[in-house]
Amino acid sequence: MKSKVYIETFGCQMNVADTERAATGLRKAGYDLTTVAAGADVVLLNTCSVRERAERKVFRRINEIRSEAKRAGQLKPLIGVMGCVAQLEGEAIFQNAPAVDLIVGTQATDRIPSLIERAQGGEAAVIDLDERQEGEVWDVSPAERRSPYVAFVPIIEGCNKFCSFCIVPYSRGRERSRPASEIVAEAKRLQALGYKEIHLIGQNVNSYRPRVEDGLEGFAGATRFCRLLRAVAATGLPRIKFTTSFPRDFHPDIVTAIEENPNLCDWVHLPVQSGSDRILKLMRRGHKRSDYLARIERIKNSSRRLALTSDIIVGFPGETDEDFQQTIELVRQCDYDSLFIFKYSKRAGTPAAEFHDNVPETEKTARFIELEKVHRAAQEKIYRSYVGRTLSVLAERQSSRSEKDLSGHSTCHKVVNFEGDSSLEGEIVDVLVTAAKTNSLYGNLLQDQR
Ligand code: 5AD
Ligand code: SF4
Repeated sequence: MKSKVYIETFGCQMNVADTERAATGLRKAGYDLTTVAAGADVVLLNTCSVRERAERKVFRRINEIRSEAKRAGQLKPLIGVMGCVAQLEGEAIFQNAPAVDLIVGTQATDRIPSLIERAQGGEAAVIDLDERQEGEVWDVSPAERRSPYVAFVPIIEGCNKFCSFCIVPYSRGRERSRPASEIVAEAKRLQALGYKEIHLIGQNVNSYRPRVEDGLEGFAGATRFCRLLRAVAATGLPRIKFTTSFPRDFHPDIVTAIEENPNLCDWVHLPVQSGSDRILKLMRRGHKRSDYLARIERIKNSSRRLALTSDIIVGFPGETDEDFQQTIELVRQCDYDSLFIFKYSKRAGTPAAEFHDNVPETEKTARFIELEKVHRAAQEKIYRSYVGRTLSVLAERQSSRSEKDLSGHSTCHKVVNFEGDSSLEGEIVDVLVTAAKTNSLYGNLLQDQR
């Protein structure tokens, strides 16, 4: 009988994409994939280490899986740790969590089947932290994708920016861009399969720098990323989103490309992290407040209304109340559609871990709450301004709140719920917004689409 593999995914979209890739490879190698841990022969945890809390979760899960199997009178499954925690902690995981049999680094996704085979063959403590190999496979089979309508397409992996707080350059290695010809071919394949929306993903999508021109010929643009946007738009795929953008590399031509191509969606995620130049410098972000605001100005002045979202860290080492007030002021100025706020979390091995983390936890929490309040007020105003407007919504699933409702995203990446039949799932429909809630909109399907 085939071994059953269960993969649990934590963290960002890159991990979701890696899980889909791992599942594709496993299925090809003859494994069965299952969606529940109970009864699986192999459990893989695809981990995140961007903040301490995410990392602790993994070790809790390992214990749970072991004790659940014990309670059910089953043999302990083969347990593997993949993703960022695996890459960063390596061998140490075997000591800290003896139930773990296998460690798969972030660049070893394609080698998982042979690693499992070795572990199943009796080899103890199997580990692969090596780099990706030439000719690596990025393909994902549609059967392994999380959604049949929205697909994540990695265009760049890794990060060269080394922001002082961030572990990603260590867990994911240097930037490696995928040839545009492959990305465009995948977009066309997805379109033929009926996908309505793709997300071009990467830690910094706009730092996209492939080694070859293939696929970009004939597409103009100020940067290779701008050319890629135009090349992917030319496939005619209905909705193209991209995330995350890095401020320093955010060329205004990105906005021009969006203005020229209606299928490039009206949403930009541009993390600022702080509104204080002093903190931005300590964070080694490579941009000042004014540089960031100049990017925002182009976005806000666009002929299309572009939704803008961001990430901010509060309580970075040395952040004074004055620094924090500058962040508050910047958030007021930017009027974000959505904002992800994080309390600074010390990551061993990053430069900031050597800084004196002098902001007490209570103060971090107070700043978090204060910033959230300021953001919520702006968000409420923005969301209310959608009432009475019609949005194009991709109906993705039944709403978790009500059986009669469908839930999906607008092109501006807002969650929109509306009453509708499940036969509409996978369709792009027009929804007249009737109410604004926290983080979501509610509306009615325009008549003739029912
Ligand atoms: N502490 C808190 N937040 C962090 N992020 C990255 N590293 C840390 C850290 N050490 C946040 C940043 C980033 C988002 C994905 O996670 O805001 O943009
Ligand atoms: Fe981390 Fe900075 Fe790279 Fe983003 S740009 S992944 S915050 S190091």
